[in-house]
Amino acid sequence: MSAAPFDFDEEIDRTRVPALKWRPLAGSGPEAELFPAGVADMDFRAAPCIRAAMRRRLDHGVFGYEAVPEGLFPALIDWHAKRHGWHIEPSHILRAPNVLDSLAIAASLFTAPGDGIILQPPVFFDFFDVIAENRREVLLNPLRLEGGRYEMDFEGLARLAARPRAKMLFLCNPHNPVGRVWSRAELARLDEICRRHGVLVVADEIHADIALPGHRFTPFAALGEAAAANAISCISPAKAFNIASCCSAFTIVADRARRRAFQAENSRLTVNKNNAFASVAMEAAWREGGPWLDAAIAYVAGNLALMRARLAEIPGVDLIEPEGTFLAWLDFRALGLAPGALAAFLRERAGWLVSRGEAFGSGGAGFARVNIACTRARLRRALDRLAAAMGGSGARRRPSSS
Ligand SMILES: Cc1ncc(COP(=O)(O)O)c(C=O)c1O
Repeated sequence: MSAAPFDFDEEIDRTRVPALKWRPLAGSGPEAELFPAGVADMDFRAAPCIRAAMRRRLDHGVFGYEAVPEGLFPALIDWHAKRHGWHIEPSHILRAPNVLDSLAIAASLFTAPGDGIILQPPVFFDFFDVIAENRREVLLNPLRLEGGRYEMDFEGLARLAARPRAKMLFLCNPHNPVGRVWSRAELARLDEICRRHGVLVVADEIHADIALPGHRFTPFAALGEAAAANAISCISPAKAFNIASCCSAFTIVADRARRRAFQAENSRLTVNKNNAFASVAMEAAWREGGPWLDAAIAYVAGNLALMRARLAEIPGVDLIEPEGTFLAWLDFRALGLAPGALAAFLRERAGWLVSRGEAFGSGGAGFARVNIACTRARLRRALDRLAAAMGGSGARRRPSSS
């Protein structure tokens, strides 16, 4: 058998750099029996092609102002056409410093203070902050957990979208934290409701490229021209290629008037500078990173299989099966812990540092979001500690369909 071309089993000491996910472990070294599973990035080294491209750029040695490299937009376009069947017009692409910046600009440009932006919680916590910081109102259309699977509540969505205040919806596709990769049919239904009621869809597709085996990501704007005209798509290779700290993002805006407004706002905020390392990292990712990404997804799927098997033996916790992302949404409601007590329980009893379910809005209490993009050995040890902690808790299993 030939050696695997990429090594995801290597334990890399991320405490040697100011990695956010590992900050609570600073000084304790990589061997500490803690499981840093909060921040959504991977513990894996970036693809060799990305590191080689950045090294070449570093060796050039001159880092003055730069334009967008000629190959970057074609790399973006080819990647999305080949991987997702989404044909992006070059003129529709705008640079952005990061995805949340695009969400914030969209909210400030295309809604007014006091307008409502629809969220479908549990959902990425920063969405709430973006809306509050822009003095807009959150309109909640909670997802429904049915038979262990999250679904959109389309009746609720139609009612909410019909409110005069509802002007925008933040779509999370794939959905952080519950891991749904929304189907074409689901997205088409959402598109129809939003267009019928004049609600602009801001599609955060940062997790686009991490669909787990058996699932297929559909870009919202690829539904068709009408959907694209009513969408602001926010994309970035940050998550899939684990380059969040040295990469930027793109906003795809098909509607000409909105694109001009976006461009003008980017210019007003002077967020149109190009980072040389981000540019080469992104171009290398999209041009040459496919095999690494496929291998990384296969490794994460292997971690998920391990977690699924172990959790099935541990009373008091249920896995919500993710279809995409490297995040597992775990249901600990059977423990019956007081609100807010779960994260402390997991930290003290099992050394797990998780994202608290409550942070993701309504429906999050009693859940934890756990990042499984780590070495298999670390995950295995973490699961052993969880089994020991839960075994001693006296928790009893309840049905998971509530
Ligand atoms: C759904 C989602 N959107 C946006 C972000 C952050 O993106 P950026 O760092 O490009 O602002 C994250 C990071 O976890 C995320 O999960």
